[in-house]
Amino acid sequence: MAERAALPAHIGIIMDGNGRWARQRGQRRTEGHRAGIRAIRRVMEAADRAGVHHLTLFAFSTENWSRPRYEVATLMRLFEQTLQEEVDELHQNGVRIRVIGRRERLSARLCRLVEEAEARTRENARGALNVAINYGGRAEIVDAVRSLARAGQDLRQLDEEMLAAHLYTAGLPDPDLIIRTAGELRTSNFLIWQAAYAELYVTQTLWPDFGAADLEAALADYAVRVRRFGGVPELD
Ligand code: FPP
Repeated sequence: MAERAALPAHIGIIMDGNGRWARQRGQRRTEGHRAGIRAIRRVMEAADRAGVHHLTLFAFSTENWSRPRYEVATLMRLFEQTLQEEVDELHQNGVRIRVIGRRERLSARLCRLVEEAEARTRENARGALNVAINYGGRAEIVDAVRSLARAGQDLRQLDEEMLAAHLYTAGLPDPDLIIRTAGELRTSNFLIWQAAYAELYVTQTLWPDFGAADLEAALADYAVRVRRFGGVPELD
C-alpha cells in the first residue's frame, strides 16, 4: 500500500536545543526553556491554523532527571505554571490535555494540576495536546503490559491492538510525523510504538527559534512524501 500523505493527523515534537539557544545568548539554560514555552504557543496556533489538531510534545524524559538540580526544579515549576496559565484557553478551544509518562517522581502539586487539567478537558474532542513528562517509550510499553496484567487479561492472547489500547495515547491516531529540532538524528525513546511508521523531519533550528514558518516547512516536506507502510510504491 502506498499513499500520498497530505496533512498529518498527529505530530510528535522532540523540542531540542533550548540549552544551546540560551548559551548562544550568554544566558542560563533555564532561559532557553522559558523561550521554549513561547515557541510551543506559536507552534500550537500554527498547527491549529493548518488543520493539525493532535500534538504530542516531548518535554522531559526519564533521563532528564540527571540534569543539574536547579534546571530540573525550574522545568518542574515551568510545567506547573504553564498548566495553570494555559488550561482555560486550551479548554475553551476544545483541546483535551493529557500528561503522559510516569507520575511517580512528579511533585504532589504538579500531579494535582495535571489531574485537574485532564479531568476538566476529558470530554474535549476538537484537539489533543499530550505533554510527555518523565516519559520513556520503553517504560510506556512496560506500563501498558502491566496494566493489561492488572486488568486480568490473558497475556498469551496479547496482540498489537490490545497493547495499543493500554498505551498512554490510547484512542489517538498514531503520529504521522515526528519533528526534531536542533539537528540530532535520533528518536530518543519517544513514542517508539506509536511512531513505527511516522515520517521524520529534523531541522537544525533550535526549539526556541521554531515558529509558524518552520512548522509550515515541515508540513510542506511531509506533504510530498510517499508513505509505503512497508509496501511497494504504486506505479503511476
Ligand atoms: C531540550 O533542550 C528541551 C528540554 C529538555 C525541555 C523542553 C521543555 C520545554 C520547552 C518547556 C516545556 C513546557 C511545557 C509546559 C510543555 P535542551 O535543554 O536539551 O537543549 P540542548 O540540547 O541545547 O542542551
